[in-house]
Amino acid sequence: MELLHGRTTLSKFLIEHLRETQESNDLAALLVDVAAAIKAISAMAAKGALGGYLGEVDSHNVQGEVQKKLDVITNETILRHCEWGGLVAGMASEEMDEPFEIPAEYSRGRYLLVFDPLDGSSNVDLNVSVGTIFSVLRHDGDERPAFGDYLKRGREQVAAGYAIYGPSTLLVITVGRGTHGFTLDREIGNFILTHPNLRVPEETSEFAINASNQRFWEPPMQRYVDECKAGRTGPRARDFNMRWIASMVAEVHRILIRGGVFMYPRDTKDPKKAGRLRLMYEANPMAMLVEQAGGLASTGRERLLEHSPQTLHERIAVILGSRREVELIEQYHRDHDCGDDVPFSSPLFNERSLFRPEARA
Ligand code: AHG
Ligand code: MN
Ligand code: MN
Repeated sequence: MELLHGRTTLSKFLIEHLRETQESNDLAALLVDVAAAIKAISAMAAKGALGGYLGEVDSHNVQGEVQKKLDVITNETILRHCEWGGLVAGMASEEMDEPFEIPAEYSRGRYLLVFDPLDGSSNVDLNVSVGTIFSVLRHDGDERPAFGDYLKRGREQVAAGYAIYGPSTLLVITVGRGTHGFTLDREIGNFILTHPNLRVPEETSEFAINASNQRFWEPPMQRYVDECKAGRTGPRARDFNMRWIASMVAEVHRILIRGGVFMYPRDTKDPKKAGRLRLMYEANPMAMLVEQAGGLASTGRERLLEHSPQTLHERIAVILGSRREVELIEQYHRDHDCGDDVPFSSPLFNERSLFRPEARA
């Protein structure tokens, strides 16, 4: 009984948290609808093969990726939970070519909801953590939203969040006043505030990148990763750890809990793509969550939240996490663009090099 006292549910948190902001109760109500969808997805993810949820369907999304059964089902789940309440004017997702129009029988609201219903879906069949990522944008006026209404910069997001379906299900959100985590109490069916005011440590010795792409990276990324890998005897003078879960939600969650830097940089693997991750429903919401927790999010050359989107499914380079590391990677991009970069493989990095930390001290 004692445990029930003093617990802050998501609804209570949102009502209290949004009271002093310009946002109406509609935003709280919308986030509660999103949370209801997330509870349903959490139950499906937990059932796995027993619910018939594993495997692929015979279709591709707009990105040309093979869709998993759960990609399709989770997309529908979010649409059904959020279309009816008069809170959203439209929705867009990774799994739909065009934005979803609110059916005529429902009224339209003041927000646009943009989401990746199942992030890290290559992990579904492996029982490794997957997630849902979402972003809430404002929609002014009563008109049905035009395509261009979705193309807002990340800094215009009114809320962002993700759910991680791991051993426990967590919902991590921001409404622009810090980043806060809630754990799903399955017996009671409520999200309970368990991680208030998450802060990304400024420094880290952990980085996450898909190193199999190294040969396609630009020189500043080669330099950064080479220096981390060189460890104690390299220019960074300390050992680093590397992680790669292939689920951005799980990587960002780790960074919010214990710091680190996550990178999916621009590469030359497919020159048609400016990056792997999608700006509107992966990069922007994660950038807002990380920056609200004191970290930084960048393309290497531009603050992610300042980037002006050109298309709904635009891809972008993502470098986010502990402030000092992201700043260093940005510095390496500037050095490179001015012709000043010094690849770690350069002969300048020898025993007596000026670039060794003891020489710089
Ligand atoms: P999604 O499952 O929504 O398509 O996203 C997967 C993303 C992201 O979560 C992860 O960081 C990255 O793709 C994994 O890419 P690799 O396959 O190159 O490891
Ligand atoms: Mn994704
Ligand atoms: Mn996805």
